[in-house]
Amino acid sequence: MTGLTIDDLTVRLAGVTILDGVSLRVGPGQVHAVIGPNGAGKTTFVNAVTGLVRSAGARMSLDGSSYRPRTPHHAARLGISRTFQHPVVFRTLSARQHVLTGAAANRAGRDNPACDALVDALLDDIGPGIAAEFGLMRVRLTDLVRALAGTPRVLLMDEPASGLDEADRQRMLERITQVREAGIGVLLIEHDIGLVLAVADHVTVLDDGRAVFSGSPEDVTGDRAVSRAYLGR
Ligand SMILES: Nc1ncnc2c1ncn2[C@@H]1O[C@H](COP(=O)(O)OP(=O)(O)O)[C@@H](O)[C@H]1O
Ligand SMILES: [Mg+2]
Repeated sequence: MTGLTIDDLTVRLAGVTILDGVSLRVGPGQVHAVIGPNGAGKTTFVNAVTGLVRSAGARMSLDGSSYRPRTPHHAARLGISRTFQHPVVFRTLSARQHVLTGAAANRAGRDNPACDALVDALLDDIGPGIAAEFGLMRVRLTDLVRALAGTPRVLLMDEPASGLDEADRQRMLERITQVREAGIGVLLIEHDIGLVLAVADHVTVLDDGRAVFSGSPEDVTGDRAVSRAYLGR
């Protein structure tokens, strides 16, 4: 099966079960949104899939080959890149220099001209200067262009629109659409349901470490488990 498939992902940290048997698939060129309240385990999911935290007993595969991420660098070399909820950029480097650091992940020589074109467009958008001078939007775009520079097959985006004003949220949504149009599978974490309905092909709702909903964006708003997750018990 093409794309990223995660089966039965469980994460326990310090004796606490943070994620409990979560399964999902991100197909090529698809946006799979993962939404849920704060503390639901969304970031931990991305951390586990990219080898930043250890998981128990999950089956993970990319384009039909099973993998076990040892480190985020290892995951990125396989073609699984991510952006960060709280991006940390190299303060003294330009966006173009961030691209050089990200490109090192593509030792396998994956080829994707649409992804290369998007990297160039993002560099134009970010413009010159070093990251220490960037506001939040340019920092988020720098994190994104760094991740895309590795020519990923799948990109996991952890709340790329958080903290942005409405105009920048829309610009970020357009960029996410372009990532999917480049054939890259996108796992999009967001806690604003409204934002994801516009772009998602599939939605998983996490609540307290469990997937309480998996289905189409059309069905998510009427779902009772979803309202419970958002409105409290
Ligand atoms: N390293 C850790 N050790 C123990 N608990 C953690 C650790 N990291 C996260 N958690 C807990 O796991 C839960 C899920 O966190 P997180 O994945 O950041 O949620 P989300 O991204 O959905 O807001 C929270 O209760 C958080 O406090
Ligand atoms: Mg988070």
